Amino acid sequence: MWRKMLLMLGACAVLTSCQGSQKEEQKTSIRIGISLYRSDDTFINNIRSQLEEKAKEYERRRGIKVILDIQDAKGSQNTQNNQAERFISLGCDVLCINPVDRMDATLIIDKAMTAQVPVVFFNRQPVEEDMDRWDQLYYVGVDAKETAVLQGRIVAELYGRQPEAVDLNGDGVVSYVLLEGESSHQDSLIRTEWSIQTLKDGKVPIEKIAGGIANWERSQASALMEQWLLAYPDTIELVVSNNDDMALGAIDALNRAGIEGMNVVGIDGTTPGLEALKNGKLLGTVCADKEIYAGAILELAASCALGEEPPEEYPLTDGTYYWAPQEIIVSEEGFLKEN
Ligand code: GAL
Repeated sequence: MWRKMLLMLGACAVLTSCQGSQKEEQKTSIRIGISLYRSDDTFINNIRSQLEEKAKEYERRRGIKVILDIQDAKGSQNTQNNQAERFISLGCDVLCINPVDRMDATLIIDKAMTAQVPVVFFNRQPVEEDMDRWDQLYYVGVDAKETAVLQGRIVAELYGRQPEAVDLNGDGVVSYVLLEGESSHQDSLIRTEWSIQTLKDGKVPIEKIAGGIANWERSQASALMEQWLLAYPDTIELVVSNNDDMALGAIDALNRAGIEGMNVVGIDGTTPGLEALKNGKLLGTVCADKEIYAGAILELAASCALGEEPPEEYPLTDGTYYWAPQEIIVSEEGFLKEN
C-alpha cells in the first residue's frame, strides 16, 4: 500500500515538472495586462510609449511575442480592479499595475495571488504591508527623496554661483511658491519636504509666499499661479513644482501676465517639459531615465511570465523594488539667464 502510494506520488511529481518544463519550452508568446491610473497623465504617457518600444525590442531579441493589453483606469480604483480581474480571466501571464489608489491595492493582490499571476506595480507605490504579502509582487519607481534633493540642488547651485539670478529683487530673500501633486501620492510629500530642505541646506534664504495642491495638472497649477500673481504682485521670484506639468501651468500663467525671468523648476523631464527647458522657460528638471524605467517594468514582467529569474541588469532591493536612476537637466539658457 505504502509503496503504491509513494510510486503514485513519484509519478505525479514527474508529471508536474514535465508539464512545467514543456509549458516553458512552448511559450512563444506572453500576454501582459497593463492598467494605467490615468492615461492623460503626461509622465505616465511617456512611460507607456517607452513600454511599447521595449516590448518590440524584447520580441526582436528573444523571439518571443509580447502582447500588451493596455487599459486606462481613468482615476477609478473600481475600474482598475475590474480591469485586473479581466486580465486574469483573459489568461494574462503577468499584470503591470499603476495603482489609482496606492493604499488600496489589496483587492488586486488578492485576485492575483488566487490566480497565481505575478504583479509588477509601478510609479504609485503600494503600502509595505501589501507588498510583503507575496514574493511575486514587485515595484518599479524612483526614489522620491533623491528626486527632491536633485531638484533643490538646481536652485541652490545657481544661487551659490550667481545669487542675483535667484534673488531677483536683491532684497536678500528668495520668495517662492510651491505647487504640489496629489496629497495621497508618496512623491508629493517627500518631494516637497526634501526640495525645500535642500534649498535650506544650500543656504538659499527662502521665504514661502504660497503653496497649493494642483494634483500634477497643468490647468490646476495655472489657475493657482494666476491667483498668486494677483494676490502677491511683484513678489514671487521662484516656483518650485512637484512635476513638470504643474511647472508648465505656472509658466502659462506667467506668460498670460507678461512676466519674464522668474525661475521655475520641475520634475519628470517630460517631452513638453524638455521643450520649455530648451526655450529657457524652465530653469531645470529632474529626469528619471524613462528607457531604463520602462525597461525594468517590461523585463521584470517578462521574466515573471516565463518563470525566469528577475533580470540581472535591474537589481532589486529586498528582492522586490527597482529604483530607476535619475539626473538633473538644466538648460544652458536657464543657467546663464540674465535678470
Ligand atoms: C509622479 C510624476 C507625476 C505624475 C505622477 C502620477 O511620479 O512626477 O508627474 O505622473 O507620478 O502618479
